[in-house]
Amino acid sequence: MTAVELEGIWKRFPGVIANAGASLSVRSGTVHAVLGENGAGKTTLMNVLAGVYTADEGSVRLDGVEQRFANPAAAIAAGVGMVYQEFRLIPTFSVAENVALGAAPAIVAKGAIEKQVGELAERFGLATEPGRQVWQLSMGERQRVEILKALWRDAKVLILDEPTAVLTPAEAEELGRITSAMASEGRSIIFISHKLDEVKAFCDEATVLRGGKTVASSLPVDELDPASMAELMVGEATAVSQRRVRTTEVGATALSVTNVTVVDVHGRHVVDDVSLSVGAGEIVGIAGVAGNGQRPLADALAGLTSLRSGTVSVSGTDVSALSPGDRNDAGLAYVPEDRLGVGLAPRMDAVENAMMRNYKTLGSGAFVDRKAAFDQAEGLIDRYQIKVGKIDAPLAGLSGGNLQRLLVGRELDGEPEVLIAAQPTRGLDVQGVAAIQNILVEQAAAGVGILLISEDLEELFALSDRLLVMHEGKIAANFDPDAATRHAVGAAMTGA
Ligand SMILES: Nc1ncnc2c1ncn2[C@@H]1O[C@H](COP(=O)(O)OP(=O)(O)O)[C@@H](O)[C@H]1O
Ligand SMILES: [Mg+2]
Repeated sequence: MTAVELEGIWKRFPGVIANAGASLSVRSGTVHAVLGENGAGKTTLMNVLAGVYTADEGSVRLDGVEQRFANPAAAIAAGVGMVYQEFRLIPTFSVAENVALGAAPAIVAKGAIEKQVGELAERFGLATEPGRQVWQLSMGERQRVEILKALWRDAKVLILDEPTAVLTPAEAEELGRITSAMASEGRSIIFISHKLDEVKAFCDEATVLRGGKTVASSLPVDELDPASMAELMVGEATAVSQRRVRTTEVGATALSVTNVTVVDVHGRHVVDDVSLSVGAGEIVGIAGVAGNGQRPLADALAGLTSLRSGTVSVSGTDVSALSPGDRNDAGLAYVPEDRLGVGLAPRMDAVENAMMRNYKTLGSGAFVDRKAAFDQAEGLIDRYQIKVGKIDAPLAGLSGGNLQRLLVGRELDGEPEVLIAAQPTRGLDVQGVAAIQNILVEQAAAGVGILLISEDLEELFALSDRLLVMHEGKIAANFDPDAATRHAVGAAMTGA
């Protein structure tokens, strides 16, 4: 039986068509993959199903009955639950409180709810401790709380938006077991991913989106192979518009990475003998499907984690043994993909966040020159057009685009020689993307060597002077973006 049927869904945003007649059909009791590269329209389509957006055109049917959700509450009432990429939990509440929030009788003993949440978790094999506060939990545990929230509301359809992006490999496998347990009860799970191996391992069928349209519907996963997947996801070779004029004269080597290996807590070589260099004024792109070592590489170059072997040099100085702060002083700036974790402190205000890099120069000991700090923050706000409500209010309320401008601005303010930018435009709206991309191009023109790690092929083709592909921890391929086809890059990304 068909549990979910989306047909001819159109959703437009100012200047963007996110869904252009997309369709999706999910049978009950199955795990259904929705595949597509970044920007394909996956999240938007799921937001239509989850009542976050209403479609401009098209129909949504659940068990054959036409629905038109006015809001997420209406979708939840009809049995659709969604676990978003960014979790929506209250850190200072317990697991049980988060699960039952707004969906339990007002006067029930705390212990009783904890017990019920514990039983529900056990039924689906979701390891959790109902009494613990959410801030104490790992990302994997937080995700299980989100899943429990949906199950608590008896979701018949559960949407997981790129759920494994935040998980360790072991947690991802665990999630696969949980989704099959839910499917075997007759529920339908929609699993958004761009990792072929986990789609093959966890899902029954797959639908592929490209450019807001459905390009393949309900393919049995056994019929998917890396080459056909790459073809479906990235399409035929297309000319990239708005490509930046390439750097013709690359300066001296700004960043040099030699035989770098990084090992994770499980002993896996997540970065495996990587060598690369970036010249002054050059943008070197790194493409890759999420989870192929890009993040550990960036963290290790910035000094947040240590190298198993190899060296990192900035303008000829070996920084391999230096702390992140000393690497920064040596000319290395880092925009991490985890904006509100590693990058910025959400509970602090713009002034405090702006001065995190150079607080040493703003005062001595405990005494910070508050006026100088304010001026610095105001300078950043002005130059990078950051919209902050109040300069001394916690950052947590700012939009993604403004957070990113603040982070990028702060990192560039120290006039680095090298900038490592990891997923710098992910999750931003169109204007935010353009603003950040323009800053990167300007900085390269001013002589900064930029290592751009991105999952957005369009962005990499548009900005990179050279394009590397990371696969399973290694640099698997090396392309000239002017000559390469997206198909060839896509194939290297999937290991074909
Ligand atoms: N709220 C929004 N406002 C403007 N544009 C948006 C919004 N949400 C998504 N988009 C744009 O719609 C397109 C599809 O986005 P999305 O559905 O998030 O893709 P995916 O989840 O496949 O990466 C992208 O170009 C994105 O920038
Ligand atoms: Mg998405």
